Amino acid sequence: MKKRFGINIRTVRDLRIVPVLICVLVLCFGEKTLAEEEMTPQIALTFDDGPHPVYTAQILDGLKERGVKATFFVIGKNIEGNEELLERMHQEGHLIGNHTYSHKKLDCIEKQAAAEELEKTSELVERVTGEGTQFARPPFGVWNKALEYDVTMLPVMWSIDTLDWTTKNVPATVEKVMKQVKDQDIILFHDCYASSAQAALQVVDLLLDQGYEFVTVDQIILAP
Ligand code: NI
Repeated sequence: MKKRFGINIRTVRDLRIVPVLICVLVLCFGEKTLAEEEMTPQIALTFDDGPHPVYTAQILDGLKERGVKATFFVIGKNIEGNEELLERMHQEGHLIGNHTYSHKKLDCIEKQAAAEELEKTSELVERVTGEGTQFARPPFGVWNKALEYDVTMLPVMWSIDTLDWTTKNVPATVEKVMKQVKDQDIILFHDCYASSAQAALQVVDLLLDQGYEFVTVDQIILAP
């Protein structure tokens, strides 16, 4: 028997539903994309104690390669000789924060001295980049409340401490982040160890795969 090819009336009638189906699909797809955008989890990587001539440079290279922004809380006395790294941070869209001039515990020194630790560092940053610092990460996580009337910088803590400086162990540092990471986390690394540079970039790769967006810390703490 000859097999019949071609379309019959019923098929033609069914085809009329195609434009409607397309419209429904476009609407659903469009809405899904919008919802997905709203739900993109954000993360802020922060690096303390730099700039370091070797490891900060490695981190900057890795972040640039991946198109990722981070925040660097620099120590004032480490700036001299590393001005180019500060320029890079600024030009490549990272945020530069203040980690005091000589890594002082701010509640153990006179208020005036504490304010100078922060202001001196801000001035050094401004000399290189044209902008002073608006955010400070107090060494040892200890802020001096009295400073709130003397300096205009906002203290920024963290939600995940990688303990990278104690373990100096890449897998342990990566695991510390990956087992607890969530939307809006602020992760604390130190850009003065080879292991930290390596671990931070591994964390970036893993979180990019999970759909995280990397933002500078101001975007998390000033979010409405
Ligand atoms: Ni520190």
